[in-house]
Amino acid sequence: MLSPLRANPRACATIGSVCAVSRFYATTPIYYVNDEPHIGHAYTTIVVDAVTRWRRLLGDDVKFLTGTDEHGLKIQQAANAMGKSPQAFADGIAPRFAEAWKSLDIANDDFIRTTEPRHRIAVEELLQRCFDAGDIELDYYRGKYCVRCEAYYTDDELLPVDLCPIHKLPVDVLEEENYFFRLSRYTDRLLEWYDAHPGSIVPEFRGNEAIGFIRSGLRDFSISRTSVNWGIPLPWDPKHVAYVWFDALTNYLSAVGYGSDDAEFEKWWPADVQFIGKDIIRFHCVYWPAMLLSAGLEPPKRFAVGGWLLVDSEKMSKTTGNVVKPLDMVDTVGVDGLRYYVLSDTPYGNDGDFTVEGLIGRYNSDLANNLGNLTSRVATVVGSKCGGIGPAPSVDGPLADAAAEAVAGATAGWEAITPSRALEATWGLIRASNAYLEANEPWKAEPGPDVDTVLGNAVDALRIIAILVSPAVPATAQRIWERLGFDGAVHDQRVPQDVAWGAASGGRPIAKGDPLFPRIKT
Ligand code: MSP
Repeated sequence: MLSPLRANPRACATIGSVCAVSRFYATTPIYYVNDEPHIGHAYTTIVVDAVTRWRRLLGDDVKFLTGTDEHGLKIQQAANAMGKSPQAFADGIAPRFAEAWKSLDIANDDFIRTTEPRHRIAVEELLQRCFDAGDIELDYYRGKYCVRCEAYYTDDELLPVDLCPIHKLPVDVLEEENYFFRLSRYTDRLLEWYDAHPGSIVPEFRGNEAIGFIRSGLRDFSISRTSVNWGIPLPWDPKHVAYVWFDALTNYLSAVGYGSDDAEFEKWWPADVQFIGKDIIRFHCVYWPAMLLSAGLEPPKRFAVGGWLLVDSEKMSKTTGNVVKPLDMVDTVGVDGLRYYVLSDTPYGNDGDFTVEGLIGRYNSDLANNLGNLTSRVATVVGSKCGGIGPAPSVDGPLADAAAEAVAGATAGWEAITPSRALEATWGLIRASNAYLEANEPWKAEPGPDVDTVLGNAVDALRIIAILVSPAVPATAQRIWERLGFDGAVHDQRVPQDVAWGAASGGRPIAKGDPLFPRIKT
């Protein structure tokens, strides 16, 4: 470890004489268990992983939650089709998500399944609070329902001949007695809330979509079903089970002790950032805050809305047969190659296009040629010119400005939830360091103080780079860290103090090792 100061001054709030660290609670959507993890799920999860890893570097006390959405008609039907009970079916798929995340180096702190008892307690509590507030009432409903979306659509939302606007498949007509959440009462309150909390949906254009939808006037939505039995019964009328979206959204509360552990709940709620895909804006940015306000709870501080990751410009679907499984890609570019690609290639919020050529192209240019090359050059030349011991950096080395710029750009990029910008800023320092070595050509010079200065500066830049790249490519960052002769974990370093120029002295043995990113032939 480089610095005894573990807590980040930026994140510190002083309580009496004790310095308390900020907490940061971030969530992914919970994934339906009727599907295996694919690159679209992985994309969302990797973004949250990288952002939370950055917050850990800042010294925040982080909780990163992900999990699986296991109730509702869609899962009930998928289980029936396999001749399994919904529980057995969910039990088979949920671990596939947990394993996929483990193999992609996802450092989630919790994994919630909506079939867990802690979740049921929270759903019952939230339902009861909204009911007691007078916002849930019984009504009769006839509507057009898409099971894949688990959502009703009005005639003007449907495509011609009653096709679902998302799946382009026929909807079902459902007719039953449902409890309704009186969302129509919340139009003004939601608009006031968003007015008072500008920037709470990023990127802004996605926020405008949600606000436009609220302005157009909100309709009540059904929160219970009698024709479905795979779900959580309403506490006051157990013939009905809770609508799967009401149930699923509550996971964000269940995992932090809602209804069971007040101190834990106080600590973590409201969430700092909830990451979602653009397809579920309405549920999260409209229904969810209204449900929370009804129950007397604060809405989350921020929603970060990602676009879709398309495959060869098309949405992935089992029907099209273009589903990319994350782990298949790992065989080609490694875990960090995949993580880096999805984080850097698409500005968060926009749709991205996943192509194998794009993946390999970025791997070869940014990882093999830039980061990998810099690491091996530094180690090789320190080996041949400095007896394998990294020299000290100069006090105000020529790379110091580039390092400060990279730290500032990365900080701003991660804070704004734009990983591609954070990485662009970080790669600025990698490129500057390679250019610096090329300009000075220490490999051609005689060993001596001039060469030591150049290599000492390159080593310190690489130390800072290892810390800055760690949210995106954690295993690679750790390998670089160890090659530079540091003990411990790179993720235990702290920003900004440990990324300051010259925060480490020279004198450590630098190891060469295998290429970090062997080039892939195209
Ligand atoms: N279960 C609901 C979410 C409930 S959260 C309270 C759900 N599940 S999902 O598995 O269908 O999708 C989860 C998230 O993954 C969504 O935000 C969705 O946008 C995202 N993605 C699914 N496919 C995707 C891509 N192809 N690209 C990017 N994100 C994708 O919706």
